[in-house]
Amino acid sequence: MCGIVAYIGERQASPIIMEGLKRLEYRGYDSAGISIYHDKIKTFKKQGKVLELEKIIEGEDLQGTVGFGHTRWATHGPPNDVNAHPHTSNSGDIVLIHNGIIENYASLKAALMDLGYSFTSETDTEVLVNLIEEVQKSRNLTIGEAVRQSLNMVVGAYAIVVIDAKEPDKIIGAKNSSPLVCGVGENELFLASDATPIVKYTDKVIYIKEDEVITLCDDGTYSIVNLENEVTENPIEHIDLKLESIEKAGFEHFMLKEIYQQPITIAESMRGRINAAEGWAKLGGMAEYMNRIKQADRIILTACGTSWHSALIAEYLFEELARIPTEVEYASEFRYRNPIIKTNDFIIALSQSGETADTLAAIKMAKDRGALIYGIVNVVGSSIARETHAGSYIHAGPEIGVASTKAFTSQLTVLSLMAIILGYEKGMISQGYYRQLLTELESIPAKVERILKVDDHIKYIASEIKDANNSLYLGRGYNFPVALEGALKLKEISYIHAEGYPAAEMKHGPIALIDMHMPIVVIATNKRYYDKVVSNIEEVKARKGIIIAVVTEGDTAIKALADFVIEVPTTEDPLSPLLSVIPLQMLAYHIAVMRDCNVDQPRNLAKSVTVE
Ligand code: F6R
Repeated sequence: MCGIVAYIGERQASPIIMEGLKRLEYRGYDSAGISIYHDKIKTFKKQGKVLELEKIIEGEDLQGTVGFGHTRWATHGPPNDVNAHPHTSNSGDIVLIHNGIIENYASLKAALMDLGYSFTSETDTEVLVNLIEEVQKSRNLTIGEAVRQSLNMVVGAYAIVVIDAKEPDKIIGAKNSSPLVCGVGENELFLASDATPIVKYTDKVIYIKEDEVITLCDDGTYSIVNLENEVTENPIEHIDLKLESIEKAGFEHFMLKEIYQQPITIAESMRGRINAAEGWAKLGGMAEYMNRIKQADRIILTACGTSWHSALIAEYLFEELARIPTEVEYASEFRYRNPIIKTNDFIIALSQSGETADTLAAIKMAKDRGALIYGIVNVVGSSIARETHAGSYIHAGPEIGVASTKAFTSQLTVLSLMAIILGYEKGMISQGYYRQLLTELESIPAKVERILKVDDHIKYIASEIKDANNSLYLGRGYNFPVALEGALKLKEISYIHAEGYPAAEMKHGPIALIDMHMPIVVIATNKRYYDKVVSNIEEVKARKGIIIAVVTEGDTAIKALADFVIEVPTTEDPLSPLLSVIPLQMLAYHIAVMRDCNVDQPRNLAKSVTVE
C-alpha cells in the first residue's frame, strides 16, 4: 500500500533509496519515483516497477545526500507517470511522498484552485503538497511548522515525507494510520514504511506514533512533536531483522521461499511455548490476562483476507476445545456496523502486517467499548501490535510475497496453542487429549517437510489443470476455511476464478457450474466427515468434474474416485489445516508460474492494505 523511503546524512542518498524501493516494492508496484536535493530538487518518476524507474535515471546526475523515494499502489488516479509520486508544489520548492488517502482532498483542492493553484495529476497527494505550500506562504512558516499546521486541516490516513528546497538541511515526516519508522544511524537518519530498507545500515529505530511530525536534520539530530505542537519523546528500539531474512536465498520467488520455510516458521511460532514431553504449553501474552480470558462470555476474531481465514479455523478450535462461543468478523464490516460489544468479550485481531487499516480501526472501536483486545501479529512493533492490550507474535519472519503463506500457518499454530491452553485451563479437554494435541502440534513441522517433498507431483497436477478458467475448492469442518484459503491463493496469483465452499453447500448452487473442464479441489483429510466427503466427490464425478483430492496417507476410497490425489500425513482433526493448506499453496504457486504470472507481485494487489 505504497512504500516510502527517505535518507538524510553523509552518504549518497540515491543508491540507498533505490535499494530501499526494491525492498518496499511488495507494498505496491504501480509506479515508482525518486527526488534528490543538490542545489535544487531533481525528481524522476515512472509508471511500473522500480526497474522502469532505474531505466530512466540511468546516466542522470543524482548526486546528493538528501532525498526520498516512493513505490505506489494507486488509490486516487490511475497508475501513470503523472500520478506517480513524488509530487511537487506549484512553486517547485516542496516535494512530497505519501502513503494513504486524504479524504477531504476534493474540498481542499477546490479552495486551492480558488487561490490560483493548478494541478497536473488526479491525486490527493498533489493537493496536500500544495496545501503545505499555501499554509507556509500565507503564514510565513518553516516547513516543519507548515506541515504540522496543514495536517490539522486534513482528514484521512497518511504517512508522508516532505522536502523543501528552501530548507534542504532537513526532511519532515508525519504519520496518521499509515506506518512510518525512523532509522537512527551515525550522523544519518532514515524514514521508511517498514524497517526493511533500514536494517542494512542500523538496527536502531523509532516508531513514529499517530499524529506525530518528525524533523530529521542533516547532522543526525531529530525532534518530534504532535499535531498540537507538544514535544514527544519516542524511545529508540532495537530491531532484530537480519538482511538474509528479506532476500530470496536462491529461491525463484519469495512465495516459494516462504512456502518452503514453513517447517521452520511453524516451529518458531511454538518455540519456548510448548513442551509436550513435560506436558506444558504457555503463551506469555495470555498468562497475564488468563482469568479474564477464561471468564470471557464470547470470543470475537476480526481480520481481513487470509488472516480472516485463520480466524474462521479458530472459531472451530475455540468452540470445540475451549467451549467458548466464538464469532468471526470481517474487520471492514465489524468496524462500521455498530456491533454489540461487552466488557467481558475477548477480541482477537489477526494480522500479518499489523497495519491493515480495517483491522486496526476495528480493534480501536472494540477497545473503546471496554473489551479485552489480543493481537496475533507478525510484524513486531506494528500499529496493531501496539494498539492491543496483550498478544502473541507469530515469529514467522518477514513475509515479502504478496500472497500470504507462512504467516497463515504460523497464525494457525498460535491459535491452536491458544485453544489447547484455554481448553485445558477451563477443564474442557482431558489431560490425555491435551498431551496428545501438544505432541501432535510438535510433530507438525516434520510433517510439513514431508509434504514439501511431493512438489514434483503437485507440479504435474498443476500442468494438467493450469488452463482452467474456473475452479471450486470444497472442504468440511476445519477444512472448509482451508478451501476458502486455497481458492484465494489460486485466484490472487494465477487469476483463475476460484471459489471455496463448504462441501455440502455445493448442491445448493455451485454444482450447476461443474462440467468436464472444471477442476474441483476437495480437501478430504478430516476423519470426522470422511464418508460425507466421499459422497460429495461421487456427486462431482457424476457431473464429470475433475477431482483433485487432498487426502491422508494410506487413503484408498477417495484414491479410487479422484483424478489426482495429494497425500498428507495424518494428524488430529483440529490441526489438520496446518497440513492440508500446504499442497494448496504449492498448487497455486506452480499454476501461476506456468501461466507466466508475477507470483510475488500479482496485479492490483499490495502486501499491506493501509487504506480502507
Ligand atoms: C492474501 C493476503 C491478504 C491478507 C490481508 C490481510 O494472500 O495476503 O488477503 O491476508 O490483506 O493482511 P494482514 O494479515 O497483514 O492484516
